[in-house]
Amino acid sequence: MSESLFSVAGHVALVTGAGKGAGAGIAKYLARAGAAVIVNDLFAERAEEVVEEITAAGGTAVAAAFDVTDAEQVAEQVADAEEKLGTIDILVNNAGVPPGGGRPNQFVNMPEEDWQLQLNLNLIAFMRLVQVVLPRMIEAGWGRIIQISSGSATKGDKIGVAAYAAAKSGSEGLVRHLAVENGQYGITVNSLALGLQEGVGRADEPMIAKAIAAIPTGRPGRPADTGAAVVWLCAEDGGQVNGQVIHINGGSHFGR
Ligand SMILES: NC(=O)c1ccc[n+]([C@@H]2O[C@H](COP(=O)([O-])OP(=O)(O)OC[C@H]3O[C@@H](n4cnc5c(N)ncnc54)[C@H](O)[C@@H]3O)[C@@H](O)[C@H]2O)c1
Repeated sequence: MSESLFSVAGHVALVTGAGKGAGAGIAKYLARAGAAVIVNDLFAERAEEVVEEITAAGGTAVAAAFDVTDAEQVAEQVADAEEKLGTIDILVNNAGVPPGGGRPNQFVNMPEEDWQLQLNLNLIAFMRLVQVVLPRMIEAGWGRIIQISSGSATKGDKIGVAAYAAAKSGSEGLVRHLAVENGQYGITVNSLALGLQEGVGRADEPMIAKAIAAIPTGRPGRPADTGAAVVWLCAEDGGQVNGQVIHINGGSHFGR
């Protein structure tokens, strides 16, 4: 007998930065498990491609192209997408890598514009989105908020991501407090801290090769690894997990 253990049917999910990478994996897994999914990305064509794949497989999704760091676009586009699919009760805050990768640099040399971008994308945008969706989750008496974090939030490194890490750490702090404030309303809030993902750099680059070699499972993360964990946290049987940072990194100490 084979039947799907975890269902999120009847729920409406917003996944940010879901046009590729981990976000696309999350959107597809949530749709396979029955959720109606709002696929956000900066680039409309990326979001639309993921929506096409989901609908071709029999799922329900709409594309919502907007910049999560722009308050006006967020308000407008969330309202528009909710009109099409219903009220969001699952938020997966995944957008975190700016186009071009965010110019890693030792912090001493990092221009303010670059570190502000990391704070805006990886902390402020998350806070704003939570304030958009949380009141209606409280009203409904059910909700799931998942923040996609990184091992860099808890371990220092020399790879030029101090500002990114500061923002991810701030988000993990917010998650712990939101979890305690809102558990009483049937809402859980968790972080998934990813390790190195497939497709980052070239496997023959010395830094990437070294990072992959340090992963006990012998491979970087795949979109499906994160997608499956999100579905579990969102399902009824995942509802006792709250306020946690779960590392999905193959047991790697890169980022811990
Ligand atoms: N790639 C890694 O090795 C790695 C490691 C640890 C954690 N993470 C985290 O995982 C998450 C996903 O990373 P990924 O590597 O899959 O990303 P990715 O670069 O493959 O895709 C990110 C998507 O987000 C979109 N995006 C960027 N800025 C946006 C904005 N302002 N508004 C809306 N969409 C925007 C991009 O257009 C892109 O399609 C991020 O939060 C990242 O910090 C990634």
